[in-house]
Amino acid sequence: MAVRALSTAARATAKSRVAVVSSISGGIGREFARQLADKGYRVIGLVRAATPPVDVKFETICGIDLANPSQLLEALPREMASVLGEDGGIDLLLNCSGVLGDGGVTTPGPERSAKAITPEWLQHTFAVNTFGHVHCTNALLPWLTRNHTPSSPGRVVNLSARVGSIGDNSLGGWYSYRMSKAALNMYTKTLAIELKRTNTLVMSIHPGTTDTALSKPFQKNVKRASLFSPATSVEMMLGVILSRGMEHTGSFVDYKGELIEW
Ligand SMILES: NC(=O)c1ccc[n+]([C@@H]2O[C@H](COP(=O)([O-])OP(=O)(O)OC[C@H]3O[C@@H](n4cnc5c(N)ncnc54)[C@H](OP(=O)(O)O)[C@@H]3O)[C@@H](O)[C@H]2O)c1
Repeated sequence: MAVRALSTAARATAKSRVAVVSSISGGIGREFARQLADKGYRVIGLVRAATPPVDVKFETICGIDLANPSQLLEALPREMASVLGEDGGIDLLLNCSGVLGDGGVTTPGPERSAKAITPEWLQHTFAVNTFGHVHCTNALLPWLTRNHTPSSPGRVVNLSARVGSIGDNSLGGWYSYRMSKAALNMYTKTLAIELKRTNTLVMSIHPGTTDTALSKPFQKNVKRASLFSPATSVEMMLGVILSRGMEHTGSFVDYKGELIEW
């Protein structure tokens, strides 16, 4: 799939902090990009489609399929170099794509029992939710680990989910999704240890149940007060993400900043 970079008139100034959002077509990713652009960040959005969503006002790298590792590891660095230069830096990477499924309508996931697990859906869920974010982050490491200081750290944030907590799992079910998020959390913790010396903070965050396409099939038992709009969820998460320092690297928190057990 072709990958291309588009510039827009709304590009932030050369001194702006740089945020990369993967991907900007989702409910939460789109809102992260919008709120970061409002804060003056230069936002570079990744998107799977060949063209950016209409009315997007920031730079976009299109054609990024998280389930395609060779594209992530070969084409993405090339395209990022053309956008940021070989020596540029990324201040914040938000890995906020994901698949959950619709519970048997068109996908086997999220599975209610072990016997509902299929090799294809398990593989696909890991390919997007885990391997995709791992390869995307690894492809961008040269830009992510530059020029940070303890008082001004770089940040890699993986959108996880409370159901990815092993310690918190009292309900069962949702096998592929839970496992993919638990594995992503291990990447968070391990990468945090490796990147500490570059002053790059790595964390997993749970957005709360948020009104997006991903949660739509499962909203009927959620109380209205517990269902956040993407705007509310992202505002709360950015408050946490941007206020955390290196002492919080390697943590798994919710949208209020409260620790979730692994
Ligand atoms: N919403 C919630 O209640 C909730 C709760 C806990 C955790 N989360 C997590 O929050 C994150 C964001 O979810 P959301 O609610 O914003 O979901 P969403 O609106 O359904 O967005 C999902 C995003 O993932 C992208 N994606 C899926 N497969 C992809 C692939 N192969 N390559 C590239 N991109 C792909 C979609 O891109 P396309 O448009 O190309 O399909 C879309 O941008 C996910 O990690 C999710 O697990 C959400």
